[in-house]
Amino acid sequence: MNRRNFLSQMAAGASLAGLTFSTSGRIQGASIEPAQDDARGKKNEPIRITRVQAYPTAPSGTRLVVVKVETSEPGLYGLGCGTFTQRARTVVTAVNEYLDPFLRGMDPDNIEDLWQAMFQSSYWRNGPVLMNGLSGVDMALWDIKGKRAGMPVYQLLGGKCRVAVPVYRHVSASTPEQAADRVRAYMDEGVRYLRVQWSISGNANYGARGRRDRERSGHFGGQVYEPRPYRLAVPKLFGKLRELLGDEIDLLHDVHERLHPIQAIGLCKDLEPMRLFFLEDPVAPEDIGYLPKLREQTSIPIAMGELFNNANEWVRIISERNIDFIRCHLSQIGGISVARKLAALCDFFRVRTAWHGPGDLTPIGHAANLHVDMATWNFGIQECVAFNEATREVFPGAPEIKDGVVTLNDRPGIGVDFDEKLAAKYPIRDDPPFDLKWGRLRGRDGTIRRP
Ligand code: CO
Repeated sequence: MNRRNFLSQMAAGASLAGLTFSTSGRIQGASIEPAQDDARGKKNEPIRITRVQAYPTAPSGTRLVVVKVETSEPGLYGLGCGTFTQRARTVVTAVNEYLDPFLRGMDPDNIEDLWQAMFQSSYWRNGPVLMNGLSGVDMALWDIKGKRAGMPVYQLLGGKCRVAVPVYRHVSASTPEQAADRVRAYMDEGVRYLRVQWSISGNANYGARGRRDRERSGHFGGQVYEPRPYRLAVPKLFGKLRELLGDEIDLLHDVHERLHPIQAIGLCKDLEPMRLFFLEDPVAPEDIGYLPKLREQTSIPIAMGELFNNANEWVRIISERNIDFIRCHLSQIGGISVARKLAALCDFFRVRTAWHGPGDLTPIGHAANLHVDMATWNFGIQECVAFNEATREVFPGAPEIKDGVVTLNDRPGIGVDFDEKLAAKYPIRDDPPFDLKWGRLRGRDGTIRRP
């Protein structure tokens, strides 16, 4: 078809989802809209977005942000996760003040088109605030499409690659014996993958648990963290833990970008004999230039990506085969739409997925991870948490971990609902100000350390 024929066909609204050109080359309407004489006919008026709202809530104490997209079809709405827990209110502003007026009147069917429009709409792109707002909308649009199709979202992404999604859980301990006991308790529940973090007295290591441990981990200030004691202790602790547990169980560990790159390379080499499933964030996103050097010296599997925001951060390390697992946070990178592209990119380079699945994610966000997991052949592992009762009540249909795996409920869309009225009973509070206490970790001499 030559260009002229193509345009005249388009002008007649004959194909390509009714994209209508005028002869002056203008596209009718604010988005890609069906033509009046489109095959769908006047009786099938397109559905419109009528309202986009963000709802902050904290049923477990952790600040969560839900994004709801309402449509002109009675009862049809979509839900997404836009949780950026450290700056929750900024996401609410981005959604309610900017994305709501921007999206009203548009056709929720055109997910990719709306994604690109939202992404370009601020001119200055990326950043956790804008991306969390955008991602929440993206997930909600997939939820709507699934509900319209009468299918769970993973079906729209290509269908099942597995029957359920294996997850890893978190253990933290101060001795190998204590860690072994906690790992065994999880093994009794059927969990086969455990992330183990270590508390060392006098040093605020990342991932220490419990209220007192949490204070020790440095997020709540007043404690010091030095990289050297951490770097020296971890291989000894894992060595002993492997002796206690044998080779039956898969162990993981998160460095949380808390070492200097050359120390991280040393740690990787020391940990190699412990046969970890993966080591997470040995270097910071700013230090990915060190990954090829790390790779030359050790075969330890590397997981990275939790802090990534845009393609410039991941394309090279994947295509140059410098990592083994991609760990992006779906609402940081653009939601399900970007996750499926990223998973496909990884597929060609034998990189597996291990999406970020912490407590600061709504059950809707966890379910979004799981839908992508279900439809991704190169899936690796999923991080997941158990929800408290209040969270389950606010989010009916929240995924549940059983026998070390999560099975989706197979309802159309994402499959998790949101009770707005109940959510309002759990407002986000300024006390304890979790989001204000990051960035206070310091070294012995007072130097700020990474969280
Ligand atoms: Co992490």
